[in-house]
Amino acid sequence: MKLLVKNIKELLQVRETSTSFLSGKEMAELPTIKNAFLVVEDEMISNFGPMTDCPESIDFDQVEDASGKIVIPTWCDSHTHLVYAGNREREFVDRIHGLTYEEIAKKGGGILNSAKTLQNTSEEDLYQQSKARLKAVMAMGTGAIEIKSGYGLTLEAELKMLRVIKRLKEAFPISVKATFLGAHAVPKNTDKETYVKELIESWIPKIAGENLAEYIDVFCETGYFSVEDTEAILKAGKAYGLKAKIHVNQFTTIGGVAAGVKNDALSVDHLELLLEADIQVLQNSRTMPVALPGCSYFLSIPYTPARKIIDTGLPLALATDYNPGSAPSGNMNFVVSTACVKMGMTPEEAINAATINGAYAMGLENQLGSITKGKFANFMITEPVNSYSFLPYSFGEDHVDSVYIKGHKIE
Ligand code: NIG
Ligand code: FE
Repeated sequence: MKLLVKNIKELLQVRETSTSFLSGKEMAELPTIKNAFLVVEDEMISNFGPMTDCPESIDFDQVEDASGKIVIPTWCDSHTHLVYAGNREREFVDRIHGLTYEEIAKKGGGILNSAKTLQNTSEEDLYQQSKARLKAVMAMGTGAIEIKSGYGLTLEAELKMLRVIKRLKEAFPISVKATFLGAHAVPKNTDKETYVKELIESWIPKIAGENLAEYIDVFCETGYFSVEDTEAILKAGKAYGLKAKIHVNQFTTIGGVAAGVKNDALSVDHLELLLEADIQVLQNSRTMPVALPGCSYFLSIPYTPARKIIDTGLPLALATDYNPGSAPSGNMNFVVSTACVKMGMTPEEAINAATINGAYAMGLENQLGSITKGKFANFMITEPVNSYSFLPYSFGEDHVDSVYIKGHKIE
């Protein structure tokens, strides 16, 4: 199948070669071609350039006219909990009435509440609920996604979640990465030391043995898992080939960033609080800081200090954190817009953070995240708009007209 998209008003994120990630400084630039064409052959981007070099339409099986429209690589959402059962609107209302996220969790709400619901949900039902969410986020432009377990908290229920992720991976054309987050919360009536030991000695070998995850995650946070627990779990994961991607510095700073970097974490996510020492430790590392502005918005907690991160030269990725408790939205357009409105990122920085740097945060930087020959033809075509800055500017809306995954338009 040969597809030509022609008369593109502006083709964004055009890179001759594939970059691993963009540093804070490099994020300021978003290379584009105005009045461009794009060619897809066998699922891959095979050519692009200015319209003056556009090949003849007659040589193609399919031709799209993108007059007045912008083409962007699809969003790379590197942090989600998209597989979950039921919702938590009750807790949302409790928070409106004044309870904090921590207080709700202490009362048995929060992650434990979702775990109870998930344990009582059949695998088929869980799959159907998750499938609907995945379809919805793809329609909004997400073309690669990481999904975590962590709402099971029994071996059986964690396996159920991971099998659902595996089914999504097989049923959908987009790249899906699975992360084992057994250390999301300590289950009710369980001693934490016993639980961590169980994760390390039994669950990790089983999950890695069945090839159900590529990454390992820990909620490194006061009241959840300590730095010591985190290190022990990351080391155990590493021994089984699971690379680390961790939750750190959401509510308190306990040294999790350093623990992540020390254990070669691919990413450290949340960072609503960030100490000078954390920034120091991230310098010269290969670990990607990931901000989740949807979570800050929804929980009314601080936004990750993006300017501080970027201005010191560190890279930054943006993701949704799509989950029932702290970010019940998987809309990357909202995330990109909120990063501009609330975190002081420029449209160029936010788009870079949500494409190339997001791809890096799930090990997909050689396949996705930019318009580069040889990468998968995952891109979206916007409605007619004046400029790409209109996209984050018009917050709460998405101007995605159509989405192509491996060169095929999704319905
Ligand atoms: O990334 N912080 C830990 N986990 C999720 C929220 C979990 C929940 O409330 O269900 C997060 O924000
Ligand atoms: Fe999360």
